[in-house]
Amino acid sequence: MHASEREILGQELRWAAVVAGIVGVVMVAILYAGLALRTNPPSNLETVDPKTLHLTAEFSEPNLGTRVEPNGQVTTRMVTAQFAFVPRCVVVPANRPVTLRFATPDVIHGILVTGTNVNTMVIPGFVSQVHTVFTRSGQLLMPCHEYCGLGHSQMWATVNVVPESEFKPDADGRASCAP
Ligand code: CUA
Repeated sequence: MHASEREILGQELRWAAVVAGIVGVVMVAILYAGLALRTNPPSNLETVDPKTLHLTAEFSEPNLGTRVEPNGQVTTRMVTAQFAFVPRCVVVPANRPVTLRFATPDVIHGILVTGTNVNTMVIPGFVSQVHTVFTRSGQLLMPCHEYCGLGHSQMWATVNVVPESEFKPDADGRASCAP
């Protein structure tokens, strides 16, 4: 039995209508989420000028790395740049809320910390912020996962998660990896 050309055309058009319908439903869902529910990319919308990043109080080099704020909040700041993280290694305490803040002076980078749910893009002009609790101690690899240029595959850092008893910030509240 051979289907006639007319029958085949009919089937094709029916499937095309199904696909167009699905695309339409998805488009409506995206517009509804964005406009009516105000669902935006999961990040705090905080802007920073990438051209003067290194001159800002927050992302100047002496202020990078891990710091325990006076209220006890642990904040780790890093600059992601072609093709390195500054600093290359950060130390954080296990089982304690940690806020990670990233900014970039050049192009889009992406970071993830292996074995954790930390995963975000770092976009010029914005501060990327992630709240997390590291539950296991150890040296965790943090590679760049957004292609950012020829040195992309060499771009990575280490997150050294230490038990809270070994987390010893200095008088300023700063903690850094052993040299
Ligand atoms: Cu930075 Cu890839």
